[in-house]
Amino acid sequence: MTDAARLETRVRELALVGGSGTSVTRLGLTALEAEARDLVRSWCAPFSDDARVDEAGNLFIRFAGADAEAPALLVGSHLDSVPEGGRFDGALGVCVAVEAVASLLGSGARFARPVEVVGWADEEGARFGVGLFGSSAAFGRLPAGAADLRDRNGVSIAEALRALGLSGDPATARIDPRSVHAYLEPHIEQGPRLERAGRALGVVTDIVGIYHGRVRVGGRQDHAGATVMGARRDALVAASGLVAALERLASAVPDTVGTVGEIAVRPGAKNVVPGECVFSLDVRAPSEEHIERALRGLGEEMARVRREREVAIEVEPLQRVPVTPLDARVLETLVAAVRSVGAEPPLLVSGAGHDAQNPSLSGVPTGMIFIRSTGGSHTPAELASAADAALGARALEHAIRALAA
Ligand code: GLV
Ligand code: MN
Ligand code: MN
Repeated sequence: MTDAARLETRVRELALVGGSGTSVTRLGLTALEAEARDLVRSWCAPFSDDARVDEAGNLFIRFAGADAEAPALLVGSHLDSVPEGGRFDGALGVCVAVEAVASLLGSGARFARPVEVVGWADEEGARFGVGLFGSSAAFGRLPAGAADLRDRNGVSIAEALRALGLSGDPATARIDPRSVHAYLEPHIEQGPRLERAGRALGVVTDIVGIYHGRVRVGGRQDHAGATVMGARRDALVAASGLVAALERLASAVPDTVGTVGEIAVRPGAKNVVPGECVFSLDVRAPSEEHIERALRGLGEEMARVRREREVAIEVEPLQRVPVTPLDARVLETLVAAVRSVGAEPPLLVSGAGHDAQNPSLSGVPTGMIFIRSTGGSHTPAELASAADAALGARALEHAIRALAA
């Protein structure tokens, strides 16, 4: 039996790792993320058969199946958060997976194949700029040179992994996708569609494609009082034009979103004309062609700003995750699972990126259940009710039964 109170308690307990109130800051590849791993591992220790952390910091907790050699069913989500994020993005999926497996085993079910609860590392990419980090490493899809990327303090991914007692080579976390029977990810919806439809659960059909990049605008550092307005090459003013252009360009392409969420100005003093400005790019759409169209427009805008403002503009592409259709048969299994708990799931396209993209793009049959969340996501306001979370766990139980029992 799903224990709704136990599930709620665990979500709360996990939120205390890096959290205060409803706000959680538990960045990927940090000691806090490792603490979250240890906590989840401790919940499962009494009834699991094995647990391991791979070289990318992913946690796998194994529950034996009658056929020990059979490909495993993987179920879970990620354990990191964005800065000042909420308690549910990622964390709820891991807690729901633990609850579903605990409930199944507690009611006497035995698995035909191994089942593994996974807690992926650094899905958000908030610290180093590369999202879906842990699952990309596991499925051999890390961008080249990822281990050398550095955070704001100059610490590289390799160094961060070594500080956590790992080897520093995340590429060695790669597994054979054929060793995975299927992957299921429960996750909060992060948008308002389930709430608006008055539905607790949904099933995901596709996940958007994502482009992440970093732009460096080089102008000329000058005295803010002594440099007349006509004689400046202000890097921030040039960057501002590009930020506004991205909003305009993405708005003009159907179903496309573009965001600059991070910006830094150097040297960063009120009386200095900015000499350099570095900002992030996040462009997404359910069609590759639409992402290309927005990026092409931005490229043209950059050429114009370069010419008119005499600044240097360099773009460093960081990551490209293709549009990801999820598996049709797993989708059917999930729809049936949701119906079996008395809910009717809308079929949804995810505008957020998910670890599920990596197994899916590697040929592993993959599916996602969305759990209604109010208050948005990537904010302390995100909220999945205890009742909806428990319903999600019950539906997941049915899906695990169908795929592994
Ligand atoms: C993760 O939440 C993402 O969509 O970037
Ligand atoms: Mn997430
Ligand atoms: Mn997220």
